[in-house]
Amino acid sequence: MKRSLSVVVLLLAALVSQAQILVTREDRERAEALVSHMSLQEKCALITGQDDGFHTAAFERLGIPSVRMADGPQGVRNKTNSTYYPCGISLAASFNREIAHGVGTGIGWDASARGVRIMLCPGVNIYRSPLCGRNFEYYGEDPYLSSETAVQYIRGIQEQRVIATIKHFALNNQEYDRHWTSSIADERTINEIYFPSFRKAVEEARVGAVMTSYNPVNGSHAAENGWLIGHLRRWGHEGIVMSDWTSTYTTLGCLLGGLDLEMPKGYVMNYEAVSELVKNGTVSESVIDEKCCHILQTFAAYGLLDKPMKDESIPENNPASREKAYAAALEGPVLLKNEGILPIKASKKNNIIVLGPNADCIPYGGGSGRMDPIEGTTTTLYQGLAALGKKYSTTLMDWREIDEAALKKATAVIVAVGFNHDTEKEGADRSYSLPKGQNKLISRVASINPNVIVVANSGGEFDVNPWIGSVKALIMAWYGGQEGGRALAAIISGAVSPSGRLPFTFWGSEAKNPAARYYHAALPEVNKVKKNRDPFPNTQYSEGIFLGYRGVERFGVKPMFPFGYGLTYGSFEYSGGSVEQLPYGLKVSFTVKNTSKVTASEVAQVYVSKVDSKIPRPARELKGYEKVTLGKGESKTVSVTLTPNDFSSYSASSHDWVVTPGEYRIIVGDSSASVKIDLPVKL
Ligand code: BGC
Repeated sequence: MKRSLSVVVLLLAALVSQAQILVTREDRERAEALVSHMSLQEKCALITGQDDGFHTAAFERLGIPSVRMADGPQGVRNKTNSTYYPCGISLAASFNREIAHGVGTGIGWDASARGVRIMLCPGVNIYRSPLCGRNFEYYGEDPYLSSETAVQYIRGIQEQRVIATIKHFALNNQEYDRHWTSSIADERTINEIYFPSFRKAVEEARVGAVMTSYNPVNGSHAAENGWLIGHLRRWGHEGIVMSDWTSTYTTLGCLLGGLDLEMPKGYVMNYEAVSELVKNGTVSESVIDEKCCHILQTFAAYGLLDKPMKDESIPENNPASREKAYAAALEGPVLLKNEGILPIKASKKNNIIVLGPNADCIPYGGGSGRMDPIEGTTTTLYQGLAALGKKYSTTLMDWREIDEAALKKATAVIVAVGFNHDTEKEGADRSYSLPKGQNKLISRVASINPNVIVVANSGGEFDVNPWIGSVKALIMAWYGGQEGGRALAAIISGAVSPSGRLPFTFWGSEAKNPAARYYHAALPEVNKVKKNRDPFPNTQYSEGIFLGYRGVERFGVKPMFPFGYGLTYGSFEYSGGSVEQLPYGLKVSFTVKNTSKVTASEVAQVYVSKVDSKIPRPARELKGYEKVTLGKGESKTVSVTLTPNDFSSYSASSHDWVVTPGEYRIIVGDSSASVKIDLPVKL
């Protein structure tokens, strides 16, 4: 008995250690010993980026190597060509933890193969407005979905002995004036909406590094914001806190605010500036020692002080990585509309035309999330369709020179539109409308041929009103990476049923979004103070916790497509529904049955709702989900465990999460607007 217990304990320990790399006492002592042999000048070199701005300093005499970093999040960037995975919003849309873990694993392999040991990803800033130029990198509007996706992605990377860097901490939800506009939000909103992904990454994935954001948070720049960074340490972060690239402003602020590593170089934490403050007694050298320890103890924990950086056993062009990219590309796309046109069945009569700016390229969002795929590994949408063979006869048409006669004869027309690296990117916010000319293109094609399927690349919602009523289908394809075209072809042909779900609310109108008023309100203020940044212009988060679907009931606005929504080629029935009391929570079980003739995947979503809440709370909040793939007629019992945390809300007066006793409803549905099973519970 004793023996089997110790076997179980050992097995558990092995599992935990596989999923998390922890800083041990030995790592800490080793870091302290190394720091005790360093001069102040060497310490200042260690806490600032070196060389090309993507390396840390090397100290040969101490056996400390330079550690190479690279962006993320769609693959390994910076001076290399690498596997191009689907973007962040696509991973969130998969509602599949395994997919997020798989992409993390692939990126971990690719980084190891190149000697990169710090990956600057994932990005988890919450989708507040469709206009944010970096939504495509992030995981949508819901803190639970975002956290679950981030934890798995980080674990995947870090299991390969590569440090993941969660970014951008925090409230970097717009690109417009990102260096100066201060995000102003209350404590409850920050804790319920904007912190959870970072907190779970620290607590459940032991993320090795956190990158601060460009913007000030409640009036103080993130890299110098002791209140903000203090939270990371309270959650147990023992790793590195690094700045975003050129987001540091004062030496004292960075030294005392808790930043460990200034990137890409020592603008403010350089030896000259730091030594002056140490010499005149303003800052104790122990403050710099602590930063060095955070860096070195993390390197020690990841074996970077002992093992080679490069894993020669992994090929740079890795078929296993490509498989992960393909699996993810299959599960991201969300089918929003389908009036009987999809899937296109194999037939000799098929005469498919594909056209549009994104039909024969690999669309991607711009900025540091952009990367270079390995030559010969990419498949465009047109190439993917063409590879389906004779029964899917597909022609690529030049969208600038439409051949009306040919269009008329087509059995289906696929119009590939959306944004790209020029129109949706880091450093700028984007328009709500599709880029110039695209609405006209869709409307014109739809006026010639009624069988139009729109495939759109974007990081979020855009205006579909000009044509949504005149097309037969709409697929949100995000940025699918190198395998995006292959995966879309598999979905369009019905080889695979679409299974992605919206990771944000698709309002169908810019103004319906509860945050829109405040997001835009900052703009005149920003312009007013453009020449004088003291005080900062503010962007108010006045919608508070009622962001996205949380605002539907609160503000009485109905979205065009709700959060969690997405069509499949199958149909499902929910039945049963029970709640079992466990020592540490509640086990919610129900059965999902595929009532259709095709294999398809359902995303069963579990929401918690407080009945008659005395404090304002969203009508429901996502607290669990499972994706189940079922063959024709097949059914499966799904169980989701809810813990007391899942019923709690943040109390600004006690500065903590509290569980209010009383009545709750557990709602199971296939989107945030559906009720398939409704279970009352009392806490
Ligand atoms: C971005 C970061 C990125 C860094 C390095 C910055 O502009 O905001 O996300 O990791 O550049 O490329």
